[in-house]
Amino acid sequence: MCAKVNLLIIVSLFVLTNADYWNDREKLIKREESQMLGSSIILNEAEQIANKILMGYKYSEYDAGFQNPGIFAPGRHFFQSKRDVENSKVFSFIQKVPKGGALHGHDTALASFDYLYSLTYKANLYGCTVDGRIRLKFLSYQEQDKTCKWTLISELRKNEPDFDKWLRSQLTLDVSNPREEYPDINAVWKAMSDIFGTVDPLLNYKPVFEEYLYQALLELYNDNVMYLEFRGVLPAMYDLNETVYGPMQVAGIYKEVVDQFKKDHPNFIGARFIYAPSRKVNNATVENYIKIVKELKKNYPDFLAGFDLVGQEDLGLPLTEFINHLDQIPKDIDFIFHAAETNWFGTSTDMNLVDAVLLGTKRIGHGYGLVKHPAIMEIVKEKGIGIEVCPISNQVLMLVEDMRNHPAAILMAQNYPVVIGYDDPSFWSTKGLSYDFYMAFMGIASRSADLRLLKQLAKNSLTYSMMPATEKKLAIEAWETDWQQFIDKIISENYNC
Ligand SMILES: *[C@@H]1O[C@H](CO)[C@@H](O)[C@H](O)[C@H]1NC(C)=O
Ligand SMILES: *[C@@H]1O[C@H](CO)[C@@H](O)[C@H](O)[C@H]1NC(C)=O
Ligand SMILES: [Zn+2]
Repeated sequence: MCAKVNLLIIVSLFVLTNADYWNDREKLIKREESQMLGSSIILNEAEQIANKILMGYKYSEYDAGFQNPGIFAPGRHFFQSKRDVENSKVFSFIQKVPKGGALHGHDTALASFDYLYSLTYKANLYGCTVDGRIRLKFLSYQEQDKTCKWTLISELRKNEPDFDKWLRSQLTLDVSNPREEYPDINAVWKAMSDIFGTVDPLLNYKPVFEEYLYQALLELYNDNVMYLEFRGVLPAMYDLNETVYGPMQVAGIYKEVVDQFKKDHPNFIGARFIYAPSRKVNNATVENYIKIVKELKKNYPDFLAGFDLVGQEDLGLPLTEFINHLDQIPKDIDFIFHAAETNWFGTSTDMNLVDAVLLGTKRIGHGYGLVKHPAIMEIVKEKGIGIEVCPISNQVLMLVEDMRNHPAAILMAQNYPVVIGYDDPSFWSTKGLSYDFYMAFMGIASRSADLRLLKQLAKNSLTYSMMPATEKKLAIEAWETDWQQFIDKIISENYNC
């Protein structure tokens, strides 16, 4: 009798403990899920239906990868997985999502590669080869040059059967065997700076640049992106009659193109410019940058979004070199610094984060090293400093091989103010923001991250933009309308078939 009772007590105790265990487990999971980027969003009924459709696609692709890792697109190099991404149902869903703004991109690398290449068919484009690299320039006549034999591209094309294949290879990083082609990070950056060197004189011909920027905006617009903040060095532009346009005029040309695009596409909110010249310079040059940015602020107070310095951070120079000058910039000009685009923990590149934050940066470009700096992470969250994560850029420029190892996973798990950027889409054959969104959603975020993450990322891109408050409010309202229409469209598409 007694033994029986004891047994009963033991069994019921065990059942109780067991139930507690599963309860605790559930609670712990819920607690973590409630801290994720997007978890504060409550989906309405229609959104829940759209979410079910999205997650059906996601689980099927994600779990296929879990079973067979070799096929998982975010785990492979983008140059080898691009076609699979384009065939993904998650990707076509993401293309339709109103994604808000693109906040990280560089002016001469924004448009798709195919469009860039089509520009080499323009009249008056000459080329000559120096040390195995093509130089390009628009000329009204055949220029005589001792070091370089300028020839019309149309003629080179006619005369050399392999010319096109070679010319293409001069304008892109996209190769079939990236890991052999680029043995280390310095090699891939060298290749990229060579491409910039080739592309810039092609694009800095004023009529071509106007078309190019217009096309870059159009590609975003067609990808359901409504706003852009782009960085540029304000290079001298030229015309066939030898007119040269200086930085102020170039900024004016950019602004005119943006205004024209807005007129043609009233649903596009607009674009702003971040003056971001090279960081590999001396103090005198930085002093001159500051003169230029002050003048930009005076002439284009609304168009200028802020100031930054660009170039491979690992090769210098760190922000500490220029503190004296940067500290002098008037407070109405905002910093939007690239910082810690590196995997070298504790180096001067990594420490750029400290200076960026102390100088009051409004956002951080990449911030790849951020998760190793708990004190800076605290400041980032407290001050709402947007982190511009550019997944495909980080892979192509050799910070991460497999998106599942991207440190932004940690930022997303804890609701840091992440936004998604595309950096230099021309050079890695993407178009618009959807490819980078796909990598963030499928490769970096949790398996369970759903429509709320996409919604939050889109919202963040407007919240952390440099739009003035009134414009921002209107932009968010316009985006909410687009979002509602998008949800309706997803549902009607799925119930018609
Ligand atoms: C040069 O060409 C541009 C555009 O073709 C034109 O607007 C400008 O007036 C010309 N400048 C001179 C000095 O002829
Ligand atoms: C700029 O000036 C500061 C202060 O004199 C100096 O510490 C720094 O090394 C200089 N930077 C460069 C790139 O010369
Ligand atoms: Zn960048």
